[in-house]
Amino acid sequence: MMNNSETAATKKRYNRIAPLYDAMEWFTERAAFQGWRKALWARVPGQRVLEVGVGTGKNFDYHPVQAHMTGIDLSNKMLARARKKAEQTGRSIDLREMDVQQLEFADNSFDAAAATFVFCSVPDPVLGLRELARVVKPEGRILLLEHVRLDQMPIAGTVMDVLDPLVVRVMGAHINRRTVETVQRAGLTLDRVEDMSSTGLVKLITACPQK
Ligand SMILES: C[S@@+](CC[C@H](N)C(=O)[O-])C[C@H]1O[C@@H](n2cnc3c(N)ncnc32)[C@H](O)[C@@H]1O
Repeated sequence: MMNNSETAATKKRYNRIAPLYDAMEWFTERAAFQGWRKALWARVPGQRVLEVGVGTGKNFDYHPVQAHMTGIDLSNKMLARARKKAEQTGRSIDLREMDVQQLEFADNSFDAAAATFVFCSVPDPVLGLRELARVVKPEGRILLLEHVRLDQMPIAGTVMDVLDPLVVRVMGAHINRRTVETVQRAGLTLDRVEDMSSTGLVKLITACPQK
């Protein structure tokens, strides 16, 4: 069941962060994120592609040129920035305010869905992932770039657990999610999990929607 108050709180947080988001991520974007984004989008198959949680539109430069792109976000303020970015860069993308936990698309609408650093903030990630499995064709792919809890470094993992309530209030994102396991809990089939950083903090997850 969807947690409406947590969803409203998430939207409020990202609406508050929207004007600062690109500046907050300026350094990490150049140091690492851009390369990781390229790696994800190079693997996205098909003609009809959904991007979940487009934010300010940081992935638009990497979208496959041949694809018909649809993008959604919970936050109208993040989406307003994404719209501006799409206009400025001449990108054609159908942008809509929508919650991944409750998608307004018919079953099997897309060949693929992708999200970068989104399932750390979706209130019920299992619900969101099940929705993706519903709207992506059975032979399609779901690709996620996510930071996860450092389970193999017990002290770091505990520090993440302690800091998580504060970070989520300030930044909107949970820092201690086990998203690889969540993908399996949602009933999707893991295709590939790649470590993007030597610490194992950031994973590129490719999954098939099991139906
Ligand atoms: C950390 S930002 C990442 C933005 C962008 N994907 C990027 O890589 O820069 C997380 C984004 O996910 C969106 N989001 C959070 N929960 C969502 C939900 N339930 N449905 C759709 N978008 C959501 C937020 O509004 C925010 O724009």
